[in-house]
Amino acid sequence: MSFPTHRPRRLRTTPAMRRLTAEHRLSAADLILPAFIREGLSEPNPIASMPGVQQHTTETLKRAAAEAVQLGVGGIMLFGVPAERDALGTASLDPEGVLNKAIRDVKAEVGDELVIMSDVCLDEFTDHGHCGVLDAHGYVDNDATLEIYGQMAVAQAEAGAHVLGPSGMMDGQVAVIRQALEDAGHANTAVVAYAAKYASAFYGPFREAVDSQLTGDRRTYQMDAANRREAILEVELDLEEGADMVMVKPAMSYLDILADVAAMSPVPVAAYQISGEYSMIEAAAANGWIDRRAAITESVLGIKRAGANLVLTYWASELAGWLKES
Ligand code: PBG
Repeated sequence: MSFPTHRPRRLRTTPAMRRLTAEHRLSAADLILPAFIREGLSEPNPIASMPGVQQHTTETLKRAAAEAVQLGVGGIMLFGVPAERDALGTASLDPEGVLNKAIRDVKAEVGDELVIMSDVCLDEFTDHGHCGVLDAHGYVDNDATLEIYGQMAVAQAEAGAHVLGPSGMMDGQVAVIRQALEDAGHANTAVVAYAAKYASAFYGPFREAVDSQLTGDRRTYQMDAANRREAILEVELDLEEGADMVMVKPAMSYLDILADVAAMSPVPVAAYQISGEYSMIEAAAANGWIDRRAAITESVLGIKRAGANLVLTYWASELAGWLKES
Protein backbone atom coordinates (compact mmCIF):
# COMPACT_ATOMS: atom_id res chain seq x y z
CA MET A 1 0.00 0.00 0.00
CA SER A 2 1.53 3.21 -1.12
CA PHE A 3 -0.86 5.57 0.66
CA PRO A 4 -2.55 5.64 4.08
CA THR A 5 -6.05 4.12 3.96
CA HIS A 6 -7.31 6.69 6.37
CA ARG A 7 -6.40 10.33 6.13
CA PRO A 8 -8.05 12.11 9.07
CA ARG A 9 -6.39 15.25 7.74
CA ARG A 10 -9.00 15.41 4.95
CA LEU A 11 -11.52 16.67 7.47
CA ARG A 12 -9.13 19.36 8.63
CA THR A 13 -8.41 20.95 5.28
CA THR A 14 -10.57 24.09 5.47
CA PRO A 15 -12.26 26.09 8.23
CA ALA A 16 -15.65 25.14 6.75
CA MET A 17 -14.76 21.43 6.79
CA ARG A 18 -13.54 21.66 10.38
CA ARG A 19 -16.68 23.51 11.38
CA LEU A 20 -18.92 20.92 9.73
CA THR A 21 -17.21 17.98 11.35
CA ALA A 22 -16.68 19.44 14.83
CA GLU A 23 -17.94 16.98 17.44
CA HIS A 24 -18.65 19.63 20.03
CA ARG A 25 -19.44 23.31 19.87
CA LEU A 26 -19.93 26.08 22.29
CA SER A 27 -23.32 27.63 22.63
CA ALA A 28 -24.25 30.68 24.69
CA ALA A 29 -27.35 28.88 25.97
CA ASP A 30 -25.15 26.38 27.84
CA LEU A 31 -23.26 29.04 29.73
CA ILE A 32 -23.96 30.30 33.24
CA LEU A 33 -22.46 33.55 34.51
CA PRO A 34 -21.43 33.54 38.20
CA ALA A 35 -21.87 37.05 39.66
CA PHE A 36 -21.09 38.68 43.00
CA ILE A 37 -23.09 41.40 44.69
CA ARG A 38 -21.78 43.18 47.75
CA GLU A 39 -23.98 44.96 50.21
CA GLY A 40 -23.49 48.69 50.69
CA LEU A 41 -21.39 49.44 47.62
CA SER A 42 -22.00 52.68 45.78
CA GLU A 43 -19.57 51.79 43.00
CA PRO A 44 -18.65 48.33 41.70
CA ASN A 45 -15.52 46.98 43.35
CA PRO A 46 -12.94 45.29 41.10
CA ILE A 47 -11.61 41.95 42.38
CA ALA A 48 -7.82 42.27 42.06
CA SER A 49 -7.15 38.54 41.73
CA MET A 50 -9.85 38.15 39.06
CA PRO A 51 -9.09 40.88 36.50
CA GLY A 52 -12.32 41.78 34.68
CA VAL A 53 -14.61 40.51 37.46
CA GLN A 54 -16.15 42.80 40.06
CA GLN A 55 -18.33 42.87 43.11
CA HIS A 56 -21.50 44.41 41.76
CA THR A 57 -23.83 47.08 43.04
CA THR A 58 -27.52 46.47 42.52
CA GLU A 59 -27.42 48.63 39.41
CA THR A 60 -24.41 46.98 37.77
CA LEU A 61 -25.74 43.51 38.63
CA LYS A 62 -29.03 44.29 36.91
CA ARG A 63 -27.10 45.59 33.90
CA ALA A 64 -24.93 42.45 33.76
CA ALA A 65 -28.05 40.27 33.88
CA ALA A 66 -29.75 42.27 31.13
CA GLU A 67 -26.59 42.05 29.01
CA ALA A 68 -26.45 38.28 29.55
CA VAL A 69 -30.00 38.02 28.25
CA GLN A 70 -29.10 40.09 25.16
CA LEU A 71 -26.17 37.78 24.48
CA GLY A 72 -28.23 34.61 24.84
CA VAL A 73 -26.46 33.37 27.98
CA GLY A 74 -28.36 30.53 29.65
CA GLY A 75 -28.25 31.48 33.31
CA ILE A 76 -26.73 33.51 36.12
CA MET A 77 -25.46 32.18 39.48
CA LEU A 78 -25.66 34.76 42.25
CA PHE A 79 -23.36 35.07 45.26
CA GLY A 80 -23.97 37.67 47.97
CA VAL A 81 -21.40 39.43 50.14
CA PRO A 82 -23.13 40.75 53.26
CA ALA A 83 -22.05 43.73 55.37
CA GLU A 84 -22.56 41.87 58.66
CA ARG A 85 -21.52 38.33 59.51
CA ASP A 86 -22.08 36.13 62.55
CA ALA A 87 -21.40 32.58 63.71
CA LEU A 88 -24.69 31.24 62.32
CA GLY A 89 -24.79 33.23 59.07
CA THR A 90 -28.13 34.74 60.05
CA ALA A 91 -28.08 37.37 57.29
CA SER A 92 -28.61 34.56 54.79
CA LEU A 93 -32.20 34.13 56.01
CA ASP A 94 -33.18 37.81 55.96
CA PRO A 95 -35.58 38.39 53.04
CA GLU A 96 -33.93 41.81 52.70
CA GLY A 97 -30.43 40.34 52.98
CA VAL A 98 -27.98 41.00 50.15
CA LEU A 99 -28.46 37.75 48.25
CA ASN A 100 -32.23 37.46 48.62
CA LYS A 101 -32.63 41.07 47.56
CA ALA A 102 -30.31 40.53 44.58
CA ILE A 103 -32.40 37.56 43.44
CA ARG A 104 -35.50 39.74 43.59
CA ASP A 105 -33.81 42.61 41.75
CA VAL A 106 -32.48 40.38 38.98
CA LYS A 107 -35.88 38.70 38.67
CA ALA A 108 -37.54 42.10 38.33
CA GLU A 109 -35.01 43.01 35.63
CA VAL A 110 -35.00 39.86 33.48
CA GLY A 111 -37.99 37.80 34.65
CA ASP A 112 -37.86 34.31 33.17
CA GLU A 113 -35.57 35.30 30.26
CA LEU A 114 -32.53 34.06 32.14
CA VAL A 115 -32.38 31.13 34.54
CA ILE A 116 -31.68 32.71 37.92
CA MET A 117 -29.60 30.52 40.20
CA SER A 118 -28.37 31.26 43.70
CA ASP A 119 -25.80 29.90 46.09
CA VAL A 120 -27.19 28.06 49.10
CA CYS A 121 -24.17 28.10 51.40
CA LEU A 122 -23.16 29.82 54.60
CA ASP A 123 -19.53 30.65 53.89
CA GLU A 124 -20.26 34.18 52.71
CA PHE A 125 -22.44 34.81 55.77
CA THR A 126 -20.45 33.32 58.67
CA ASP A 127 -17.80 35.26 60.58
CA HIS A 128 -15.56 32.16 60.55
CA GLY A 129 -16.02 31.62 56.82
CA HIS A 130 -17.05 27.96 56.95
CA CYS A 131 -19.89 26.62 54.82
CA GLY A 132 -21.79 25.55 57.92
CA VAL A 133 -22.14 26.22 61.62
CA LEU A 134 -19.52 24.95 64.06
CA ASP A 135 -19.90 22.62 67.02
CA ALA A 136 -18.11 23.12 70.34
CA HIS A 137 -14.91 21.65 68.85
CA GLY A 138 -14.90 23.86 65.77
CA TYR A 139 -16.03 20.99 63.54
CA VAL A 140 -18.62 21.88 60.91
CA ASP A 141 -21.86 20.44 62.29
CA ASN A 142 -23.58 18.69 59.39
CA ASP A 143 -27.13 18.38 60.66
CA ALA A 144 -27.33 21.76 62.38
CA THR A 145 -26.20 23.28 59.08
CA LEU A 146 -28.87 21.39 57.14
CA GLU A 147 -31.60 23.09 59.14
CA ILE A 148 -30.32 26.50 58.10
CA TYR A 149 -29.88 25.41 54.46
CA GLY A 150 -33.55 24.41 54.36
CA GLN A 151 -34.59 27.86 55.54
CA MET A 152 -32.13 29.59 53.20
CA ALA A 153 -33.50 27.62 50.28
CA VAL A 154 -37.06 28.71 51.03
CA ALA A 155 -35.98 32.36 51.37
CA GLN A 156 -34.22 32.20 47.98
CA ALA A 157 -37.14 30.44 46.32
CA GLU A 158 -39.47 33.08 47.73
CA ALA A 159 -37.21 35.78 46.30
CA GLY A 160 -37.69 34.19 42.87
CA ALA A 161 -34.69 31.95 42.16
CA HIS A 162 -35.42 29.32 39.52
CA VAL A 163 -32.60 27.02 40.59
CA LEU A 164 -30.85 26.67 43.94
CA GLY A 165 -27.21 25.64 44.17
CA PRO A 166 -26.26 24.10 47.51
CA SER A 167 -22.45 24.30 47.45
CA GLY A 168 -21.56 23.40 51.03
CA MET A 169 -21.07 19.63 50.61
CA MET A 170 -23.06 18.73 53.73
CA ASP A 171 -24.37 15.16 53.63
CA GLY A 172 -28.09 15.11 52.95
CA GLN A 173 -28.31 18.74 51.84
CA VAL A 174 -30.30 18.07 48.68
CA ALA A 175 -32.94 16.02 50.53
CA VAL A 176 -33.41 18.66 53.21
CA ILE A 177 -33.66 21.47 50.68
CA ARG A 178 -36.08 19.49 48.50
CA GLN A 179 -38.30 18.77 51.50
CA ALA A 180 -38.24 22.39 52.68
CA LEU A 181 -39.15 23.62 49.20
CA GLU A 182 -42.04 21.18 48.88
CA ASP A 183 -43.34 22.08 52.35
CA ALA A 184 -43.24 25.77 51.49
CA GLY A 185 -45.09 25.33 48.20
CA HIS A 186 -42.08 25.70 45.87
CA ALA A 187 -42.40 22.42 44.03
CA ASN A 188 -41.08 23.94 40.81
CA THR A 189 -37.89 25.40 42.21
CA ALA A 190 -35.07 23.20 40.93
CA VAL A 191 -31.86 22.12 42.65
CA VAL A 192 -28.47 21.88 41.00
CA ALA A 193 -26.44 19.77 43.38
CA TYR A 194 -22.77 20.59 43.75
CA ALA A 195 -22.42 16.85 43.81
CA ALA A 196 -18.70 16.37 43.33
CA LYS A 197 -17.05 19.44 44.76
CA TYR A 198 -13.41 19.10 45.64
CA ALA A 199 -11.31 20.96 48.21
CA SER A 200 -9.22 22.94 45.76
CA ALA A 201 -6.40 25.45 45.85
CA PHE A 202 -7.96 26.96 42.74
CA TYR A 203 -10.73 28.60 44.79
CA GLY A 204 -8.13 31.13 45.98
CA PRO A 205 -9.39 34.19 44.09
CA PHE A 206 -13.03 33.46 45.06
CA ARG A 207 -12.04 34.03 48.68
CA GLU A 208 -11.20 37.61 47.75
CA ALA A 209 -14.35 37.88 45.65
CA VAL A 210 -16.55 37.18 48.68
CA ASP A 211 -14.20 38.71 51.32
CA SER A 212 -13.99 35.27 52.89
CA GLN A 213 -13.15 35.13 56.60
CA LEU A 214 -11.86 31.56 56.36
CA THR A 215 -8.51 30.83 57.97
CA GLY A 216 -8.32 27.02 57.72
CA ASP A 217 -9.56 24.84 54.88
CA ARG A 218 -12.69 22.91 53.92
CA ARG A 219 -11.21 19.42 53.84
CA THR A 220 -13.66 17.92 56.32
CA TYR A 221 -16.55 18.52 53.93
CA GLN A 222 -15.27 19.03 50.40
CA MET A 223 -13.85 16.05 48.50
CA ASP A 224 -10.22 14.97 48.44
CA ALA A 225 -8.46 15.57 45.12
CA ALA A 226 -7.12 12.02 45.31
CA ASN A 227 -10.56 10.46 44.90
CA ARG A 228 -12.32 9.49 41.70
CA ARG A 229 -14.69 6.64 42.62
CA GLU A 230 -16.14 8.66 45.46
CA ALA A 231 -17.53 11.23 43.01
CA ILE A 232 -19.93 8.60 41.71
CA LEU A 233 -21.19 7.95 45.23
CA GLU A 234 -21.73 11.68 45.79
CA VAL A 235 -23.68 11.97 42.54
CA GLU A 236 -25.79 8.88 43.28
CA LEU A 237 -26.70 10.20 46.71
CA ASP A 238 -27.72 13.57 45.30
CA LEU A 239 -29.83 11.90 42.62
CA GLU A 240 -31.59 9.78 45.23
CA GLU A 241 -32.22 12.95 47.22
CA GLY A 242 -33.90 14.58 44.23
CA ALA A 243 -31.22 16.64 42.47
CA ASP A 244 -32.48 18.04 39.15
CA MET A 245 -28.96 18.65 37.86
CA VAL A 246 -25.54 17.73 39.19
CA MET A 247 -22.29 19.63 39.12
CA VAL A 248 -18.60 18.84 39.08
CA LYS A 249 -16.30 21.47 40.50
CA PRO A 250 -13.60 22.58 39.76
CA ALA A 251 -13.62 21.74 36.07
CA MET A 252 -10.19 21.80 34.46
CA SER A 253 -8.24 19.66 36.94
CA TYR A 254 -11.23 17.29 37.22
CA LEU A 255 -12.10 16.43 33.62
CA ASP A 256 -11.87 12.70 34.41
CA ILE A 257 -14.51 13.15 37.11
CA LEU A 258 -16.65 15.11 34.69
CA ALA A 259 -16.38 12.36 32.08
CA ASP A 260 -17.31 9.70 34.67
CA VAL A 261 -20.31 11.68 35.86
CA ALA A 262 -21.42 12.48 32.30
CA ALA A 263 -21.35 8.76 31.52
CA MET A 264 -23.69 7.81 34.36
CA SER A 265 -25.90 10.82 35.05
CA PRO A 266 -29.51 10.75 33.85
CA VAL A 267 -29.82 14.48 34.59
CA PRO A 268 -27.97 17.47 33.08
CA VAL A 269 -24.36 17.79 34.20
CA ALA A 270 -22.84 21.17 34.97
CA ALA A 271 -19.19 21.99 35.48
CA TYR A 272 -17.86 25.07 37.24
CA GLN A 273 -14.77 26.68 35.74
CA ILE A 274 -13.74 28.31 38.98
CA SER A 275 -11.99 31.50 39.97
CA GLY A 276 -8.43 30.15 39.94
CA GLU A 277 -8.97 28.59 36.53
CA TYR A 278 -10.15 31.96 35.29
CA SER A 279 -7.31 33.89 36.90
CA MET A 280 -4.56 31.58 35.63
CA ILE A 281 -5.60 32.14 32.05
CA GLU A 282 -6.06 35.87 32.56
CA ALA A 283 -2.64 36.14 34.18
CA ALA A 284 -0.86 34.19 31.45
CA ALA A 285 -2.66 36.21 28.78
CA ALA A 286 -1.79 39.51 30.50
CA ASN A 287 1.86 38.45 30.34
CA GLY A 288 1.54 37.76 26.64
CA TRP A 289 2.29 34.08 27.21
CA ILE A 290 -0.88 32.72 25.63
CA ASP A 291 -3.49 33.96 23.18
CA ARG A 292 -6.29 34.99 25.53
CA ARG A 293 -9.31 34.40 23.33
CA ALA A 294 -8.04 31.11 21.93
CA ALA A 295 -7.14 29.84 25.41
CA ILE A 296 -10.51 30.78 26.88
CA THR A 297 -12.37 29.14 24.02
CA GLU A 298 -10.27 25.98 24.20
CA SER A 299 -10.65 25.70 27.97
CA VAL A 300 -14.44 25.88 27.85
CA LEU A 301 -14.62 23.57 24.83
CA GLY A 302 -12.50 21.04 26.75
CA ILE A 303 -15.00 21.12 29.59
CA LYS A 304 -17.88 20.50 27.18
CA ARG A 305 -15.99 17.74 25.39
CA ALA A 306 -15.42 15.98 28.73
CA GLY A 307 -19.19 15.81 29.05
CA ALA A 308 -20.58 18.97 30.63
CA ASN A 309 -23.98 20.07 29.37
CA LEU A 310 -23.67 23.37 31.20
CA VAL A 311 -20.61 25.40 32.07
CA LEU A 312 -20.39 28.03 34.78
CA THR A 313 -17.70 30.43 33.67
CA TYR A 314 -16.79 34.02 34.48
CA TRP A 315 -16.35 34.50 30.72
CA ALA A 316 -19.96 33.52 29.94
CA SER A 317 -21.02 36.88 28.54
CA GLU A 318 -17.77 37.62 26.74
CA LEU A 319 -17.77 34.16 25.17
CA ALA A 320 -21.40 34.54 24.17
CA GLY A 321 -20.45 37.79 22.44
CA TRP A 322 -17.71 36.02 20.47
CA LEU A 323 -20.11 33.24 19.50
CA LYS A 324 -22.51 35.85 18.15
CA GLU A 325 -19.76 37.38 15.99
CA SER A 326 -18.69 34.08 14.47
C1 PBG B 1 -18.98 28.16 48.49
C2 PBG B 1 -18.45 28.34 47.11
C3 PBG B 1 -17.11 28.50 46.73
C4 PBG B 1 -17.11 28.66 45.34
C5 PBG B 1 -18.42 28.63 44.92
N1 PBG B 1 -19.23 28.40 46.01
C6 PBG B 1 -15.90 28.62 47.55
C7 PBG B 1 -15.38 27.44 48.25
O1 PBG B 1 -15.93 26.34 48.22
O2 PBG B 1 -14.35 27.63 48.91
C8 PBG B 1 -15.88 28.86 44.50
C9 PBG B 1 -16.10 29.37 43.13
C10 PBG B 1 -14.87 29.85 42.48
O3 PBG B 1 -13.75 29.67 42.98
O4 PBG B 1 -15.00 30.43 41.39
N2 PBG B 1 -20.09 29.02 48.69
